[in-house]
Amino acid sequence: RWVAVLAGGLSHEREVSLRSGRRLSAALRETGLTVEEWDADGALLERLRQHRPDAAVVALHGGEGENGAVQSVLEMLGVPYVGTDPRACRRAWDKPTAKGELARAGLSTPDWVVLPHSTFRVLGAQAVLDALVDRLGLPLMLKPDQGGSALGATVVRDAADLPAAMVDCLAYGDTVLAETYVAGVEVAVAVVDTAEGPLALPAVEIQPENGVYDYSARYTAGLTTFHAPARLSPETQRAVGELAVAAHQLLGLRDISRTDAIVTPDGTPHFLEVNVSPGLTETSLLPMAVEAAGRSLGEVFGTLVERALA
Ligand code: DAL
Ligand code: MG
Repeated sequence: RWVAVLAGGLSHEREVSLRSGRRLSAALRETGLTVEEWDADGALLERLRQHRPDAAVVALHGGEGENGAVQSVLEMLGVPYVGTDPRACRRAWDKPTAKGELARAGLSTPDWVVLPHSTFRVLGAQAVLDALVDRLGLPLMLKPDQGGSALGATVVRDAADLPAAMVDCLAYGDTVLAETYVAGVEVAVAVVDTAEGPLALPAVEIQPENGVYDYSARYTAGLTTFHAPARLSPETQRAVGELAVAAHQLLGLRDISRTDAIVTPDGTPHFLEVNVSPGLTETSLLPMAVEAAGRSLGEVFGTLVERALA
């Protein structure tokens, strides 16, 4: 019996995924599993047909790895896999959809506006930007409605910086998600499915040296200080764990997820997004949470692989 770890892929997060895949494959091999590391490029379908694994683990980030496309291929071919099904992947991957689901359930998420590229053409760029500042105030956050690793995301503090931030954002997709900027402690909370139900791992606190957790702050060792577990009161720890479990359940996620949130000084966690395929690199958050829980990456994913194989 053997497992294929799907990594790389075609998205902007290809390099990150290759690092995640390498680390996960090594961790799974240590548990005694036979693992092949596959680059999930255009040849994936053919490869799966010819060398059908007993199970697959999706260590892809961004695009088809998180929007349900690759998961659909696995479903089509009947290959069992670790992770969320295609429909729920789509819900989680589209940030406005995920925020809407959580807001409807009464959970807090920063106020937001969705701006398809066509809006600018129809209404005129300046009118759209003015209305945006009127509605959300400054600072505000711009990010692609679908995306990862903070690519195309900017905190805009000055209206004069809006046009450039907008152009940067639209380079990654055709729709912008604009949010009220909420100041507070940034945390990431991993959730793992267990026989007793979804379990939140200790929250990890993110303290970027230059104040912004952008792509380089995410993947360059030393540019961000992490606290695992986060320096939160037991009550707030519980609240962030409950938020992450709620996101996992409301969106119908399976096996593993990581919710990113901001905790305001009053102790309220505000939902930013949830990742169905969290990064597993040396500087990624989920492995830190696993370690803070006194467990190993191999054990956690090994258990999920066993579930897929069963
Ligand atoms: N999108 C990156 C891989 C993360 O959420 O960790
Ligand atoms: Mg993400």
